[in-house]
Order: sequence, then C-alpha cells, then structure tokens
Amino acid sequence: MTAHSARMYDYYLGGKDWFEADRLLAERLLAEFPHIRTGARANRSFMHRATRTLAREQGVRQFLDIGTGIPTAPNLHQVAQAEAPEARVVYVDNDPLVIEYADALMRGTPEGGTTYLEADVRTHDLLADPHVTDTLDLTRPVALSLVALMHFMSDEDEPYEMVRRLLDPLAPGSFLVLSHTTADFDTVGGAEAVRSTYGNHGITVAPRTRAEVATFFDGLDLLDPGLVVGHRWRPDKKPTLPDEAISFYAGVARKPGGSR
Ligand SMILES: C[S@@+](CC[C@H](N)C(=O)[O-])C[C@H]1O[C@@H](n2cnc3c(N)ncnc32)[C@H](O)[C@@H]1O
Repeated sequence: MTAHSARMYDYYLGGKDWFEADRLLAERLLAEFPHIRTGARANRSFMHRATRTLAREQGVRQFLDIGTGIPTAPNLHQVAQAEAPEARVVYVDNDPLVIEYADALMRGTPEGGTTYLEADVRTHDLLADPHVTDTLDLTRPVALSLVALMHFMSDEDEPYEMVRRLLDPLAPGSFLVLSHTTADFDTVGGAEAVRSTYGNHGITVAPRTRAEVATFFDGLDLLDPGLVVGHRWRPDKKPTLPDEAISFYAGVARKPGGSR
C-alpha cells in the first residue's frame, strides 16, 4: 500500500478513510510543515463559500467538480443543493478509493442530480463523457470546480492548456473555481521539503507563485475580492491566521458573455 493524496487529505481533515501508509507520510509532512492541516481545512471552507456564493448570488445550478476527494460532509452537492435543490453536480476523481464512497456523493436531492465518474483529468475527455453530458446541460453555465487539484499537475502535464480545454466548451457565464498551493509565504523551506517528500513517494506537488496561479484565470472576470490567499476569499469571519498558515491562493471567475 502506498500513500495517496486523497487519503492523506482525509487524514489532514480529521477523517477516518486512510491507511497506515497515508498516516505515516502525512505525519512526516506535518512535521516538515505543521500548517498543512490548517491549510486543508481552510481550503475545504473556501470550497463551501465559493459554491454557496455561486448558487446563491450567481444563480449557478450546474457544477463539475474535478478532484473531489473522499467525501467529507458537507460535500459540494450538499452546499449547492441547500441553496438550490435542483442543482446538478458531477464529481470526478482518479482515485479508485473515492468511488467506494461514491454512494455518499450521490445521495443528493430528488429534484437535483448528482453523479460520480472515476477518470484522470489529464487524459480523459471529460466534457464528451456521457456521465457529464447526461447530467449537465453544457449549453447552460457550469461552475468548473478545480479545488486543490492543479498543484498535483507538473508543468509537463501542461496545466494551463488542461484548464483551457475544460473551459472552452463551457457556455458563456460559466465559472472557474480554483485553489492552488503556493510557496510564496514560505521563509523556512517547509514548502520545498513538502514538495520533495511527496515527490519521493511518487506524488507530484507543484506549488506556484501568485502570478502563475493568476494565469489559470486569463480571459476570465474574477469576482471580488480577486485572487487572494484562501482565507481572505469572502470569509465568514475576519481571518486571524497569518497567510503562511494557509499557503494557497483561491479565486472564482466568470467566463465573459451570456446573460446575468
Ligand atoms: C487535496 S484533494 C482535494 C479534494 C477537494 N477538491 C477539496 O478541495 O476538498 C485532491 C484530489 O484530486 C484528486 N486527483 C489528483 N490527481 C488527479 C487527476 N489527475 N485526475 C483526477 N483527480 C485527481 C486526488 O485523488 C484527490 O482526491
């Protein structure tokens, strides 16, 4: 059994769906960079606030969430369907373990729709897959949710082209929700230690600078407050932690055109 990012993330979040190999590597990383757990919780909270904002304020009713992770309530469909019971959600993850929990992901409202697809975003033509096209109407706006996913893509994976390929077929008025780890606030080399420890276990982690993360949003209109450290994106209460404890950027942006 080798460690896997989805189960390690579950460990950081205080879940119970991990194996000993995940715990050992997660504990090693926590020793190198104790803020990982705080960052994971802040990231999950950003996903909740972004989803709620899109459903409540922007009227979004369709969500494509790639890199879903092991279910941790509330999951994206629970947040979206609490605002709009008719919201439709497609989850995608390439970790076979996640599908074992897909039941929990698909227990949505009767009037909405939730479905789950096991696929690798690097190689699968997601927007042509019937799991996606049967659940989502691609002629209408979709929120593409890439939350804590793209830092698992190396530059060789061509991450910007990947996001472009996903966004291009989406209708005007669609949204990109993205969070991404950074080493911008790291003064003691913890982020580099994390990157190399993950790398030694076959898991790519590519922290990117603010300018590099901003590139994912090229051609889109960022909602206020723009691209910010995750806990500063429309916080429910005033952020008290230093940015280095969060260490990821987050933004939500709209694809131009279409009616509002
Ligand atoms: C850190 S978790 C994020 C979970 C959730 N999006 C959140 O932010 O709470 C990253 C997830 O991305 C998935 N993942 C990594 N590489 C992937 C790929 N190439 N295709 C699809 N999913 C991938 C992992 O299996 C993991 O579940």
